[in-house]
Amino acid sequence: MRVVDLIERKRDGGQLTGDEIRTLIDAYTRDAVPDYQMAALLMAIFLRGMDADELAAWTDAMLRSGEVLDFSDIPGAKVDKHSTGGVGDKISLPLAPLVAACGVRVPMVSGRGLGHTGGTLDKLESIPGFSTRLPVERFREMVATLGISLIGQTEEIAPADRRLYALRDVTGTVPSIPLIASSIMSKKLAEGIDALVLDVKVGSGAFMRTVPEARRLAETMVAIGNGMGKKVVALLTDMSQPLGRTVGNALEVRESIEVLRGGGPADIRALTLALAEEMLRLGGADPAEARRALDDGRGLARFRQVVEAQGGDPRTVDDPDRLPRAAHVTPFAAPRDGYVTAIDARAVGVGAMCLGAGRARKEDAIAPGVGLVLEKRVGDRVARGEPLLFVHHDGVGLDACHARLSDAFLIGDEAPAPLPLVLERVE
Ligand code: URA
Repeated sequence: MRVVDLIERKRDGGQLTGDEIRTLIDAYTRDAVPDYQMAALLMAIFLRGMDADELAAWTDAMLRSGEVLDFSDIPGAKVDKHSTGGVGDKISLPLAPLVAACGVRVPMVSGRGLGHTGGTLDKLESIPGFSTRLPVERFREMVATLGISLIGQTEEIAPADRRLYALRDVTGTVPSIPLIASSIMSKKLAEGIDALVLDVKVGSGAFMRTVPEARRLAETMVAIGNGMGKKVVALLTDMSQPLGRTVGNALEVRESIEVLRGGGPADIRALTLALAEEMLRLGGADPAEARRALDDGRGLARFRQVVEAQGGDPRTVDDPDRLPRAAHVTPFAAPRDGYVTAIDARAVGVGAMCLGAGRARKEDAIAPGVGLVLEKRVGDRVARGEPLLFVHHDGVGLDACHARLSDAFLIGDEAPAPLPLVLERVE
């Protein structure tokens, strides 16, 4: 097989066979295909798409590029959740322990933030001592005993995705429905789960900007999962403004703890419950249990146990003031009176990244305490000079952050109609 023939065929609108795809992904994972050829093929796929057979073969080949975990000897349903990525999206932190506390096991393998979107691993690692790099055996043991473990991608799980994702990130080929769908589903299906809930984000802070695009991505992922014998449900949810009030790692952990204590912003609580109910339903448990476990503190107790089991300081859960904090807090003021009519979630995410909350390059270090705390969200009234948000910073990146924020808030004369948080359900 000559890779150039595959590139040319895809470029011209033709199809690749399952055998060609399997051979190609296997060779690429073993370094036998150079990045420049894979980059050209990815661009051809970005422009031409893939049909259902190609997509199934591509996902299957990525999934089998590494170890496929088997937790079938652990009793009970194993269900995970995956978000397509957004700003202020800390939902996994309250959600996973809440669902585990209701009796459905959650083996969760998460990613790091890149670009404007945050990552669950970076948030968890802002808890002093917390390790997301557990050996697979320890991951399995925690899932069996505690019903939950929260780790990062290992070298063993779907190595083809790690390489392909990094290449897509620098070749303008991330926002492609078949490439996103295969990337997400190959990792998730290698985790040993029985079912999966997808949170497909829509809006300015998401890869999918419109509902029809997001619906197509959701339908594509549900079809891939069903084709592999897994139950999959997707919720399309609003990402036209950041979720909750905090953007930045330790700040988001603090907000997650507030939610597990029964408080926190209404949107975080509502989305946590909506996703928990879906996970419990797929796991054969009573969805109403989610609200009870949130209100009676079982979710919080399970979160504390996970923190302790993964080497983190559990006292941060009792007293979030022990979490890392930025050196300075400065207000970012409204330029005029009015109502906040829109917030560019992507600009807010990039603003937080400029402070060190996220990475511009994979090797960049994260500043755990920095970030943004929104005082005003869409629909709120604001007076000129009043803070729209507070910038938590360590003296680095403040000007760049302000430059990003300067156009992020639209202020008009009338309050906009409220947007629903959950836009659609796909199964
Ligand atoms: N998340 C992933 O895991 N992969 C993508 O391609 C996009 C978002």
